[in-house]
Amino acid sequence: MEFPRHFGPRPVRALPEVDGRAPGYERIEVRILSPSIGGEICGVDLGKPLDDETLAEVRRALLTCKVIFFRDQDITPAEQVAFARRFGELEVHPFLPEGEVPEVIRFAKDETVKGVENLWHSDVSWRQVPSMGSVLHAIEVPEVGGDTLWADMAAAYEGLPDPVKERIDGLQAVHDFAHSFGLMLDADALAEKQREFPPATHPVVRTHPETGERLLYVNAIFTSHIVDMDPDRSAALLDFLYRQAAIPEYQVRFRWRRGSVAFWDNRSTQHYASSDYWPRQRIMDRVTIIGERPT
Ligand code: SIN
Repeated sequence: MEFPRHFGPRPVRALPEVDGRAPGYERIEVRILSPSIGGEICGVDLGKPLDDETLAEVRRALLTCKVIFFRDQDITPAEQVAFARRFGELEVHPFLPEGEVPEVIRFAKDETVKGVENLWHSDVSWRQVPSMGSVLHAIEVPEVGGDTLWADMAAAYEGLPDPVKERIDGLQAVHDFAHSFGLMLDADALAEKQREFPPATHPVVRTHPETGERLLYVNAIFTSHIVDMDPDRSAALLDFLYRQAAIPEYQVRFRWRRGSVAFWDNRSTQHYASSDYWPRQRIMDRVTIIGERPT
């Protein structure tokens, strides 16, 4: 199959915006950060329980902007968990290091531990029931570097050439932890974890359960192959599909400060943590909300 080169405008669906702000919010302010993805939320203290109206507006901003950001949140891990729990049940990650409470993953990087989250991905897509969203809190960040980027996977799907859209319609792909987290395990531990977490099969294009958007749902860390396709053709097609997340017009890039929080929708985005800060320290706490089986 031919994968044509592209130059010129990308067909992103622009977020509604008046003077840089999303209209229609009363409890919060939503500053739009890029044409298709990303909003900064002002006027919310995540350390306090949110009233139902504010919560509903935060949820609406998340679905619309796909990733939302909060500055200066001096919150404890328990408060981060309490906030995330308002959006669904939380998971405990079987491979990543635990923070202060089991639902918190602590990404602690320094001169001895390098940042390796720099491949585009959607969190835990290898689960039979993957994640709805993740909440990441910056504990310690380098003065320069360590940004995270998110890509709008609805725009990535929309921008595909029509023959590619036709080709991937109805296809399923396998997602597997073995060639990422599995590399940290010896043969016995890998076999045991593979019994516990067998490869998951998800549609290559999923439909967002709340917005109805069509979303490209294969990623460079966890997707292994397309079901019932010759391995070379599967690899070539996946390679092209993975590259869509790397298109700048579909992205927003976030410069962290201590206390910043990002909340993203794992169904409609992929993310990439720039690993450009080694050997400096970068400590982040993540909580992951369980979603639904992709359809
Ligand atoms: C992640 O991949 O969930 C971590 C992102 C980050 O550290 O910025």
